[in-house]
Amino acid sequence: MENGIRNFEFQNPTKIVFGKDQIKRINDLIPQDAKVLILYGGGSVKKFGTFDRVVEALGNREWAEFGGIEANPTYETLIQAVDKIKAEGYDYLLAVGGGSVIDGVKFVAAGAVFDGDPVDMFGSGVGKGLPVTKALPFGTVLTLPATASEMNNNSVVTFVEKQAKISFASPHTYPQFSILEPEATYTLPKRQLANGVIDSFIHVMEAYLTYPIEAKVQDRWAEGLLQTLIEIGPDVVDEDNHDYATRANFMWTATNALNRFISPGVPQDWATHQLGHEMTLAFGIDHARTLSIVLPAMMKVRKQQKWDKLLQYAERVWDIRGDSNLTDEEKIDLAIKKTEDFFAGLGAPIRFADVDLDETDIPGLVEALVRHKKENISERGDFTTEDARAVYTAAL
Ligand code: NZQ
Ligand code: ZN
Repeated sequence: MENGIRNFEFQNPTKIVFGKDQIKRINDLIPQDAKVLILYGGGSVKKFGTFDRVVEALGNREWAEFGGIEANPTYETLIQAVDKIKAEGYDYLLAVGGGSVIDGVKFVAAGAVFDGDPVDMFGSGVGKGLPVTKALPFGTVLTLPATASEMNNNSVVTFVEKQAKISFASPHTYPQFSILEPEATYTLPKRQLANGVIDSFIHVMEAYLTYPIEAKVQDRWAEGLLQTLIEIGPDVVDEDNHDYATRANFMWTATNALNRFISPGVPQDWATHQLGHEMTLAFGIDHARTLSIVLPAMMKVRKQQKWDKLLQYAERVWDIRGDSNLTDEEKIDLAIKKTEDFFAGLGAPIRFADVDLDETDIPGLVEALVRHKKENISERGDFTTEDARAVYTAAL
């Protein structure tokens, strides 16, 4: 029986600059003589003025732009940015956007200086999975709180031709700085606000809903983030409610959900994310909307393995206490139901039918997991292909 926090090393080098009117701080954060490439997505940052504010902050620095990084960024698009950097020579990258742009820039920053074919930065049957030993420096301006990519070193990239959505991470792919202006969220539509709340919630759950090892700080920090999301979620998804305090709490909770503060030295799962990535790849469903479907089913199918933590989750997060006259299993089932109701209340799907999928879609999803070598995942490495099939089936 594992007991006590595991050995760990932890370092997060990203400087966070948080608050109102902080984009101007870019002028102090990027070297004066840097030649800067600004990377962004489908155009929201131009439409809402963020791009212009970034350009103003860059002052007299030489700069150019690379737009068109799509949601769920593709290797095929990003490699064009790598080629541009190799041809034109930039020494600082600036990501302006949500998780997709930031993830994309991590790949571009590493790919531009990678010795060999950048595809080999990835494993999972796509490349050789070679270590990333260097990257160009980069900063970010966050416009969508959800992934915490602004304060971690993960990058998730979609390979259109090879049909894979996979990630890499390196100590060299942390942003040097990230600008977090909560007011940037005021232009987000309800669906993206809900995505942000749900993705953050499930990042915490992947690090929390495993088995207890007496890691009291990590547990209570995770429970605090979950309770914050439950409390503010309904207000956050009201797109017309531009309450600064609500959006500031939302933005900082999302960052804390996956900047690794809650996960050093504890078991983690991430199976919900792996099953979700296959749904995004096959059907183009938003990342968070796959998670709100998979997580409740995961809790039901893995109830025995996660029993102790599910009970703790019921009691501490949802306040379903010992004096409630419920059996332990009834408490767990009620907590799962409350989780589903929370997601549905934000307008997110919780079943296959909610996104027009059915049982005929399951075999292809399971085959893709095998093809991408996503087997024996979970906190104990015991999550089999049959478990994956059972989870997808429980989500019908
Ligand atoms: O492309 P533009 O025009 O900018 O529009 C975007 C996009 O269509 C729009 N948007 C962003 N900020 C906006 C805005 N619209 C109005 N106002 C604003 N302020 O929102 C849409 C979605 O953006 P995207 O960046 O795709 O969303 P998100 O931040 O949810 O990122 C999703 C990606 O991150 C990966 C996911 O797999 C997915 O590819 N993840 C990255 C993680 C990490 N790096 O640690 C962890 C996550 O689990 C996740 O896997
Ligand atoms: Zn996620």
